[in-house]
Amino acid sequence: MFVARTIGALQAALAPARSAGRTVGFCPTMGALHDGHLSLVRRSRAGNDVTVASVFVNPRQFGPTEDLDRYPRTEARDLEVLDGAGCDVVFVPTAAELYPDGFATTVTVEGPSEHLCGARRPGHFAGVATVVLKLFVLVRPTRAYFGMKDAQQYFVIDRMVRDLCLPVELVPCQTVREADGLAMSSRNGNLTADHRRQAPAIARGLQSAREAFAAGERAADTLVGAVTGALADCPGAEVDYVQVVSVPAMRPVAVAGDRALLACAVRFGAVRLIDNVMLEREEAACS
Ligand code: PAF
Repeated sequence: MFVARTIGALQAALAPARSAGRTVGFCPTMGALHDGHLSLVRRSRAGNDVTVASVFVNPRQFGPTEDLDRYPRTEARDLEVLDGAGCDVVFVPTAAELYPDGFATTVTVEGPSEHLCGARRPGHFAGVATVVLKLFVLVRPTRAYFGMKDAQQYFVIDRMVRDLCLPVELVPCQTVREADGLAMSSRNGNLTADHRRQAPAIARGLQSAREAFAAGERAADTLVGAVTGALADCPGAEVDYVQVVSVPAMRPVAVAGDRALLACAVRFGAVRLIDNVMLEREEAACS
């Protein structure tokens, strides 16, 4: 695996694949890799000639009071596991490499950025869209792989790709979960042991909402109540939001249609976890 720390090194590493017309799969990450990230790498390897990952904790997507400093950084291990997973090239830029002095561009995606995490984390999705667009320009991937734990992020990037006619195919990948249901996240390692024991209640609540939806329930309040109810027994949980939104617009709805997203953000101490479930009528479901 080739480790590129500069834009120049990345371009040099990708030049042979580009001139040979090879397909490039891209897995953007902020490091602290877990099996969810590796599932993206596996999907990319199965569908492309060359797989590129990036490891970059993007300061522009963290608010001034958020956990940028506490975000786990495990570069040596990340490089080892990417190599083991068969990644061909990893891009590990510094902030100065991506945002040199004078950098003045911000990409704002309206619409799907406005609610859920967008409302609770002002500027977050502009930071995400800016870095993802820059990474797309640098890597020029044929396909890019995103985990659906960050479903709103996926729909924001999808909007950007459509609006700007970016020549990349986005591939949404299923959330990977621990045995007790907790969605894998780089932030899970920052939970205290007690909070780690409580956190799977999020997934249990989402699952019971999914079952209620399958049984015909469409009232957003009731579906939300399945999640808040599951969290009621968790003294450490502080609900940031639980909401049903339309897909792909990410607009809050009072009644879930045949396809909606039930998404939540829950704080356990200083750790904010997000998770979601797609609510789809059987016939409306895609693979
Ligand atoms: O999902 C993430 O890890 C990040 O938001 C991303 C897409 C790598 C952009 O920094």
